[in-house]
Amino acid sequence: MDQNFSSNIPSRKDEHLKICIENDVKYENVTSGFDNYIIRPNILTKISPDDVDLSTTFLGKSMGSPLLIAGMTGGSEKGKEINKIIAKVCDEFNIGMGVGSQRAAIENPALSDSFQVRDKAENIPLLANLGIAQFSSGYSVKEAEKAIEMINADGLAIHVNPLQELIQYDGNKNLINVRQSLIDLASGSKYPIIVKSVGTGFSKEDMEFLSSLNITAIDIAGAGGTNWKKIEMYRNPSLSELSSSLINWGIPTADCLVNAADVFSDSSKKIIASGGIWNGMDAVKALILGADYVAFALPALLAISKDSEEGLRKFIHNYIIEMKMVLTMLGITKLEELRKKKNLLMRKTSH
Ligand SMILES: Cc1cc2nc3c(=O)[nH]c(=O)nc-3n(C[C@H](O)[C@H](O)[C@H](O)COP(=O)(O)O)c2cc1C
Repeated sequence: MDQNFSSNIPSRKDEHLKICIENDVKYENVTSGFDNYIIRPNILTKISPDDVDLSTTFLGKSMGSPLLIAGMTGGSEKGKEINKIIAKVCDEFNIGMGVGSQRAAIENPALSDSFQVRDKAENIPLLANLGIAQFSSGYSVKEAEKAIEMINADGLAIHVNPLQELIQYDGNKNLINVRQSLIDLASGSKYPIIVKSVGTGFSKEDMEFLSSLNITAIDIAGAGGTNWKKIEMYRNPSLSELSSSLINWGIPTADCLVNAADVFSDSSKKIIASGGIWNGMDAVKALILGADYVAFALPALLAISKDSEEGLRKFIHNYIIEMKMVLTMLGITKLEELRKKKNLLMRKTSH
């Protein structure tokens, strides 16, 4: 296999950023599935966008809107700069954020500074991040708590990305201990644990297992947005010999969300929907289908690469305005009136 690329973590994370900025890393012929639904607008609505209140809470913090920028980066100068921009803008809008995998800083504490954003965003929900692969091969609750305390986070997002690990030439192929590692983490951590995919989604069976654990939330990160198998293919062209069906394999976000809402219906666990939810309209559809919060990653990175802090500010402003417009047309002023009100959605019948 071509190994003409970096196996060092910070450089690999920078390669990921560069690939995502310079290439099309979206799924091919797979959409997040929200196009299959239409929100039925009430054109005789009686409210205005100013009446719409999107505020909510997560991990004990209040939020202006039920939105988070999902974890992407850290561990390098570039990552540090991006994390600071994200934190500043999230603070302005009072929405949540996650940092990227902190494995690099667990292994080399000198890098921890690139993940530290609390000074820029004192009151937002902030998620630390580590991969389950590390827990399957040595990490314990100690490292989980270290990651949280390193950045004064409110919880830890554990990413589960077996397909990417299998495809990555230097990926961790030891998947045997994944379930046991999740059990140990969920039962041993004194901090909230959020289990997340990275754009492949979770099967119903996986979510049934997760619902039995003492976790706070699941981030479904379904298929239809950022495709990590494709990102790895840009790093290693020999992967283009894999079939397009494998590269584009995943559960579309909307389908995954419908299952998640079903599995977690009697539970206090929260559902974060992400994976190609890149506009306010789809975010509202996700809330109707049962999400408590909506997250996105790639569009935030692209907005920053286009126009730095101002680019991200504009993107989030428009995203929220769009959500408010949709709720206005539904005559809905509060989020509780949306969740699981599936009669607000119509299945598309014509193309
Ligand atoms: C450049 C980039 C880096 C990412 N790095 C991480 C990471 O370190 N840890 C993680 O849990 N997810 C990571 N993700 C995945 C995102 O958090 C998210 O789950 C996924 O991209 C789906 O959301 P999207 O379609 O809105 O991009 C990364 C995504 C991008 C685009």
